[in-house]
Amino acid sequence: YTLKANEIKASVSPQMWGIFFEDINFSADGGIYAELVKNRSFEFYTPLMGWHQPAATAGNAQVLIINRAGTNQQNPRYARITKMSDKDFVLINEGFRGMGIKANEQYHLSLFARQQADKPVKITATLLDESGNAIGTTVIAPDSREWKQYNVSFSATQTSPKAKLQLTFQGSGVLDIDMVSLFPQHTWKQRPNGLREDLVQLLADIKPGFLRFPGGCIVEGRELATRYQWKKTIGDPGQREVSVNRWNTEFAHRSTPDYYQSFGLGFYEYFQLAEDIGASPLPILNCGMACQYNTGEVVPVTEIDPYIQDALDLIEFANGDASTTWGALRAKLGHPAPFNLKMLGVGNEQWGPEYIERYTLFAKALREKHPEIKLVNSLGPNPDGDKFNFLNDTLRKLQADILDEHYYSSPDWFLRNAGRYDSYDRNGPKIFAGEYAAHSKGIGNGDNKNIWQSALAEAAFMTGLERNADVVVMASYAPLLAHVDAWQWTPDLIWFDNLRSYGTPNYYVQKLFANNKGTSVVPLLKDNQPVTGQDSVYASAVVDNNELVVKMINVSAKPVAVDVAVSGVKGLAKTAQLTVLRSDNLAEVNSLDDPKKISPEEKVLPVKGRSIAATIAPWSVYVVRVARQ
Ligand code: AHR
Repeated sequence: YTLKANEIKASVSPQMWGIFFEDINFSADGGIYAELVKNRSFEFYTPLMGWHQPAATAGNAQVLIINRAGTNQQNPRYARITKMSDKDFVLINEGFRGMGIKANEQYHLSLFARQQADKPVKITATLLDESGNAIGTTVIAPDSREWKQYNVSFSATQTSPKAKLQLTFQGSGVLDIDMVSLFPQHTWKQRPNGLREDLVQLLADIKPGFLRFPGGCIVEGRELATRYQWKKTIGDPGQREVSVNRWNTEFAHRSTPDYYQSFGLGFYEYFQLAEDIGASPLPILNCGMACQYNTGEVVPVTEIDPYIQDALDLIEFANGDASTTWGALRAKLGHPAPFNLKMLGVGNEQWGPEYIERYTLFAKALREKHPEIKLVNSLGPNPDGDKFNFLNDTLRKLQADILDEHYYSSPDWFLRNAGRYDSYDRNGPKIFAGEYAAHSKGIGNGDNKNIWQSALAEAAFMTGLERNADVVVMASYAPLLAHVDAWQWTPDLIWFDNLRSYGTPNYYVQKLFANNKGTSVVPLLKDNQPVTGQDSVYASAVVDNNELVVKMINVSAKPVAVDVAVSGVKGLAKTAQLTVLRSDNLAEVNSLDDPKKISPEEKVLPVKGRSIAATIAPWSVYVVRVARQ
């Protein structure tokens, strides 16, 4: 192998390795969004979904759901508890497949309430563990005939991964309640309405170059009425209009009919998250088309202006100063400085001439007003299929900025396509590998696990992305997060239950590439050719300040001896830092109980002269960092 350290082939984009966030698999509600109460404002299709009335006290009160859509369209429903007697009445919220409760943690309970009769109703709130034992309790005594928010904090005495919140209504009278919310004290950066610390930390550790949000098909909705509308997701969480999740009941055998979006994690929080973890924000907006796998509903082009206006207003929300309407709102929400938006996606996996028609109108308006914003267009599913090819040809002719290619395919496809971009047009649009994952079985199949073979194949493929950094400017694995008890799609990068989380082997591949991104690509060749599978090895190299970083992946069952002769340097340091990610078993996985079974190991590699020599163990990812002189 030869490595020409002074022959810079391309700059690596600072955004190169990023993350794709979509509320699928309970990623947001029930996942990274730390709210513990499901259906907190009674807006699910069945208003008491997530709540139940134990038989023992069910006769002691009537629960009436009142809909005030005429005066409060954002949060129309609330519950009226009419006590029939002094006897206690109990309502229990089951959380998102239970509530993860930690011993000694403080919990903040808040709710809106209004007394309707002279005799007041008091609420005792109790956390129950899986066996029904009380593990924390507090009291709220509403004292007003007007809606008022009540906030109390209390601590839990025991840990429980599947706790419930019991509300006991005491005294005779009539009480209205709404927005019943429970958060742990410890959230990411201790923010109210915050995010789960462990999950954000896993994201931050990747050091992602960008954060794509909010999806995915969720941007499109199954029909236009349930598309993602960013303006409905900012401001007071109690006034964010709840919507059914696009992934509700997807793949019937893992049915999740209780999957809704509270939008507690909304666009302001997404921008804030991106900033927190040092990632460039990449919002994707609906382009006037619902999911073409479902209704395929489109807005007539004569009525597309509100959709385009949403995009223009979003740019102002992110970047405008306080003299602008939307910039002022951002400042009022707590972020006077701009969010530094540079890219925007128009539509998710759309296809056909109907997409081009709508995209053209978006592009005209956005380019006129905001030439500084790069636009991202998806090329639809199935790389190289008819739909993909039509969009690829048409968008190239239209001089699109960045094309978003998606590939969910077999590990073998990833190996065969490691050279995919070696011969791409260098003068056309840039490429965003926006959604990819190696699948060993079908999507939604529980056996389609994050096995080592899939991670290894992705690593091999990623050397091809890195080698072609002049064309490929961004890449993200998808989907990102999945709850072990409520997923619709496998595999996924990070898995969690209500208390624990772990990175898959695929996660560690992403992290290794992102943490060793470097600034420029240098040629790494075997017999003057890119290293794309000769002797079962895939490799690429970058420069990172005064260091060279070489990534080598051996996809075979045999060790492979490699000797990289480095030219263009006076010398190399006597030792290199070697990070190895490997397993002897291609079917191996990480799990909640064994989260680091496959995880990087740090070693020291002796270096002789200007040659990096290593015997790459079977089925391994090697990352070598060495200082150059
Ligand atoms: O990542 C899951 C889904 O795959 C995304 O929502 C969609 O864009 C793609 O089809």
